[in-house]
Amino acid sequence: MNKIEELKARKDGLDVGADIPRYARLGLESIEEGDLDRLKWWGVFIRKQTPGHFMMRLRIPNGVTTADQLRAIGGLANRMGRGLVDITTRQQVQLRWIRIQDVPEILDRLLDVGLVTLQTGMDNIRNIIGCPAFGLTPNEVLDASAVARAFTAMFVGNKAYTNLPRKFNVGITGCRENCTHSETQDIALVPAVKTSGLDEVKGFNVLVGGKNGSGGYRVASSLDVFVRPGEAAEICSAIVLVFRDHGARDARNKIRLAFLLDEWGEARFREAVETRVGRRLETAGADQRLARSTDHVGVFRQKQPGLNYVGLLVPVGRATGDQLLELARLSEHYGTGESRLTVDQNVIIPNVPDARLGQMTAEPLLKALRYDPPGVLRGLVSCTGVEFCNLAVIETKSRALEVARALERKVPATKAVRIHWSGCPAGCGNHTVADIGLLGTRTKVDGKVVDAVDIFMGGAAGPQASQGVKVLESVPCDELPRVLEGLVRFGEFDRVRRQIRLLQPASPVAAGFTVQE
Ligand code: HEM
Ligand code: SF4
Repeated sequence: MNKIEELKARKDGLDVGADIPRYARLGLESIEEGDLDRLKWWGVFIRKQTPGHFMMRLRIPNGVTTADQLRAIGGLANRMGRGLVDITTRQQVQLRWIRIQDVPEILDRLLDVGLVTLQTGMDNIRNIIGCPAFGLTPNEVLDASAVARAFTAMFVGNKAYTNLPRKFNVGITGCRENCTHSETQDIALVPAVKTSGLDEVKGFNVLVGGKNGSGGYRVASSLDVFVRPGEAAEICSAIVLVFRDHGARDARNKIRLAFLLDEWGEARFREAVETRVGRRLETAGADQRLARSTDHVGVFRQKQPGLNYVGLLVPVGRATGDQLLELARLSEHYGTGESRLTVDQNVIIPNVPDARLGQMTAEPLLKALRYDPPGVLRGLVSCTGVEFCNLAVIETKSRALEVARALERKVPATKAVRIHWSGCPAGCGNHTVADIGLLGTRTKVDGKVVDAVDIFMGGAAGPQASQGVKVLESVPCDELPRVLEGLVRFGEFDRVRRQIRLLQPASPVAAGFTVQE
């Protein structure tokens, strides 16, 4: 048994919840070694970078938040987390500099507004991601948010799901525009239509086994299953439980669902899921995804006449507690008090009437969180980097901003470019699916070791997903404005993607898919 398996076998991660009040009273030194890891089941992560302090990760299903929740998070960040709020690429929020003494109060305050931190790390089902424009965008086949909520309710706090072999990522979307990088999720439900007699049923095709880490990128493959919205949460659960019971539990880097699929093949895996649910499943329906993907930054018409959703760019996902408080106010004043976080680390305020758009876009906060950012900032995503992550090789967030601002001066009018930074090969910044992906490394310049990146080009999400290819190696970060200017100005990203598709083996997802625009 590896160390993590032993840890889970001795005591369930959720059980550390009963010890949190005692640890808070007695302080950091009192936390037993195994429990320091088990606290991650409660979203409480010790961080070497902030000695004696923790990062806390808040679960935000589908990225949906209310004004009360934003106020609670902003207030907690201001009072106990040095005013820092990070929006993550799983539509969650991370707080920093948290003391164990403050954890019970934080958990209580979050619970008051309907938020939990449970199972946001380690071998759990992570936050369910989904299109943040559900129910608003005319481009959706169906509103999938109820499925994300139903599935979340099934597993959060339920020990049947807290000892998985490894982490488990799920994306559920009913939109045609591929904003949630479905192809790298362990399970992705993507919009599909099944014809049954004269009826057309709207639901999802099921993709499984996508990943970005653990040996690298693998595009989720089709399970050849169509699920109806009412049964979707049950099928997701069955897939997770097949993985729980049959996934490998030895070498941590060869455990993700992808490895079980590679061993069994999709057909055998499908049968195991059918056995668990006790019935035959329908074969896949017609894939409704478009070839393009969207980022939701800007002002967009909703399908409801006279209403708009306004997507604001939060540069590299880093906000302040005060900005969250102000976002809460704006969402109530101009919308319906709801905000939605996106997988690009941004935020959307829905339901803004036409007549109020002018006033809203003149609000001071929108000078910092812009709805009309320059192209080089618009698609900017960054992982945590050396500031708070002990695996990081380089600093990412501040560098990413610095480079983007320099590029903005050089190429102010460029179209949107997706530039993603990962601070180490774990690849949490999704650099593999960006137009320009930057992966942290170190290199020597004049005998001195400096931050550098390997540069990837041509990654894409969606049914024609492609993994970016490395085009430059060990480029010192100080040289990036100069090097990237050329790529941003003249980069033929679509042509590169077409060529990558010719070179990379046809993905099982793309097979049988016809481009619909
Ligand atoms: C061995 C592989 C990996 C390791 C060790 C790892 C480690 C970490 C760590 C330490 C953090 C938290 C940093 C902080 O304090 O902010 C983090 C966050 C995150 N990582 Fe990874 N990571 C791995 C692979 C991946 C992969 C492949 C992805 C998918 C692209 C990913 C997505 C994320 C996301 C989205 C977050 C932000 C928190 C969240 O919303 O879940 N990670 N990862
Ligand atoms: S990619 Fe590396 S540096 Fe960035 S958050 Fe993940 S583990 Fe940390």
